[in-house]
Amino acid sequence: MSTAAMGEDRIPEVKSQQIPIFIMGKRYDVPDSLTIMKAMEYAGYKFIRGCGCRGGICGACGTVYRMQGDYHIRVGLACQTVVQPGMYLTQIPFYPANRAVFDWDQTPAVAESVFKAYPELFRCVACNACTKVCPMDVPVMDYIAAIKRGDFEKATELSFDCIQCGLCATRCMGEMAQYHIAQMVRRLYGGKIVPRAAHLAEMVTDIKAGKFQPAIDELKKTDIATLKKLYMSKEAREIEPNMSDDEWTPANRAHL
Ligand code: FES
Repeated sequence: MSTAAMGEDRIPEVKSQQIPIFIMGKRYDVPDSLTIMKAMEYAGYKFIRGCGCRGGICGACGTVYRMQGDYHIRVGLACQTVVQPGMYLTQIPFYPANRAVFDWDQTPAVAESVFKAYPELFRCVACNACTKVCPMDVPVMDYIAAIKRGDFEKATELSFDCIQCGLCATRCMGEMAQYHIAQMVRRLYGGKIVPRAAHLAEMVTDIKAGKFQPAIDELKKTDIATLKKLYMSKEAREIEPNMSDDEWTPANRAHL
């Protein structure tokens, strides 16, 4: 049946059945359509930690689980992973990890700075447990290898999707917190190696000079109904398409 035939506002019914899962060893029967996070709430848990964005971005909800009769340790984000029958799980909302403090002005963007801050980097035995456990499919061991080679660009590229859930640190035989090390590298690379973007500097200058103030003042005087209309109108608010290339700019460049 088409959406129109069903009526625009009618939400199709989702059929689900109750399945058993085990949260910290205790059995609960929950609908099989739920994520781990929603299933835990369904079972009566209330999140005051270990839950942030609910959208797979903040990394707060790392979870480990095993399936009945299977020795493998599995991992997932509680907000993204759908429950399965016979899942034994627990959430790891926080895992202690070493995070080096360094003086930004006094720290050159060279490999030795990272080695000094994180000497444990060289405890990596290349077991690859970190990569296998990553719910974001980040090649953790490979970016650690890139850091050891002093290749900040490669390490930045490989670690860019890290959401800092910390699951890699829970499995590391070298006892390092890979995600903190990668974050230091990305900061040094972005802040001290990558050339400044000329167009960004121009834009900041324009903002400071008040170039956009008349448009802002105009919007501030506009009533809510008109603002809503402008917001929804494709002509007034052209949205950058997904996966557009670096050269994309809106057709209407009046406010650029
Ligand atoms: S709550 Fe943010 S990643 Fe799951």
